[in-house]
Amino acid sequence: MSQVKEVTAIENDSTPSRGVGRLMLSQFRSYSSLSLDLDTRSVVLTGPNGAGKTNILEALSFLLPGRGLRSAKLGEVKRIGSSHPWAVSASLVDGGIVTQIGTGLDPESTDREKRITKIDGQKVKSQTVLAEYVSLSWITPQMDRLFLDGAANRRRFLDRIVYGFDKGHAGRLNRYEHHLRERSQLLKQGRADPQWLSSLEAALAEEAVAITAARREVVGQLNQALEAYNGVFPRAILSLSGSLEEQWGSLSALEVEEWIRDSFAQNRYQDQFTGGSQVGPHRSDLDVIHAEKKIPASLCSTGEQKTLLISITLAASELQSIRKQTVPLLLLDEVAAHLDKKRRIALFEKLLGLKIQAWLTGTEKEFFMGLEDFAHFVRIEEGTIAEIQRPNV
Ligand SMILES: Nc1ncnc2c1ncn2[C@@H]1O[C@H](COP(=O)(O)OP(=O)(O)O)[C@@H](O)[C@H]1O
Ligand SMILES: [Mg+2]
Repeated sequence: MSQVKEVTAIENDSTPSRGVGRLMLSQFRSYSSLSLDLDTRSVVLTGPNGAGKTNILEALSFLLPGRGLRSAKLGEVKRIGSSHPWAVSASLVDGGIVTQIGTGLDPESTDREKRITKIDGQKVKSQTVLAEYVSLSWITPQMDRLFLDGAANRRRFLDRIVYGFDKGHAGRLNRYEHHLRERSQLLKQGRADPQWLSSLEAALAEEAVAITAARREVVGQLNQALEAYNGVFPRAILSLSGSLEEQWGSLSALEVEEWIRDSFAQNRYQDQFTGGSQVGPHRSDLDVIHAEKKIPASLCSTGEQKTLLISITLAASELQSIRKQTVPLLLLDEVAAHLDKKRRIALFEKLLGLKIQAWLTGTEKEFFMGLEDFAHFVRIEEGTIAEIQRPNV
């Protein structure tokens, strides 16, 4: 029975208490400047291809540490032809509290890749602090191959989710990568002081265990949340694989730390030639299984892979929404258009049920029918706002 005409399961209190109240961009991609005044309800961005919809989602993705949803070089993001650095500023509303987040290229630095972050006008030492304020999940068309391509993207996908649960995770990953690079350089020089190497490896081992523990914890929570999923958005079963994870079952965390420290020491000779390290959390993978079909996501159809990805992303947002520790945002780039009507409506109902500010894009307004009362509809044309329709209720 295809009776699903409109989004139905919504009461008037579907307004999220948290979200972006105002977004301002300056010299960002196709925008010389943009100012969007909103409340915490969701935002639908429509407009023709190339209008600048994804650019807005990318700007929001810079509210997290990292290089945003396009994994861009920071220098590339600046509007071509502009002599000023780019900047993104957002007012984060959390109940009655508003926090001003500003981030962009550092105007005082000659380094094209140096980002500066301000919270309530105060410069912070590291952008990793952002993870204390915002949790972000996104789905973009580029992620259609998430289950098919290499492990690096799946790790990044998971780590972004972990940021929202564990404030220390971003810093930990940074330190781990920094130590790993330092070790590689020392090994390459060939005359490294063994004691210095040992202390670096001890630090690496400690971070490695903490990184893996944080990932395992979040995978466990996601699996629990996903138990309620079936049908339209299928249940996914997640697990981690890798050398550390293999040890985890039989050894205590302390023993795993010893094991990885010893592995680093044993692999020095080999790592000297191959660079990086043979073992470590930078080699782990996120494995996903379609529970009902009992097959790995990589063997599922393109459509099934997409719905699995949506399930996992919704489960992550759901957990964030319950935790209430950060402002959770969900960015869905060109997702609605690729779902059939039944799934589209189910997605909207789920989003509204989560009480989370979602930012959705699509070329046509028609894909978002049923959301008029609950979301801002912003039409973008040639890099400017052509029209804003505010939610009715
Ligand atoms: N650094 C930049 N400076 C100026 N324009 C840019 C820059 N990077 C991308 N663009 C432009 O942004 C537009 C793409 O915007 P995008 O948000 O991807 O469109 P869509 O609405 O299809 O999602 C393109 O026209 C592209 O040329
Ligand atoms: Mg786009």
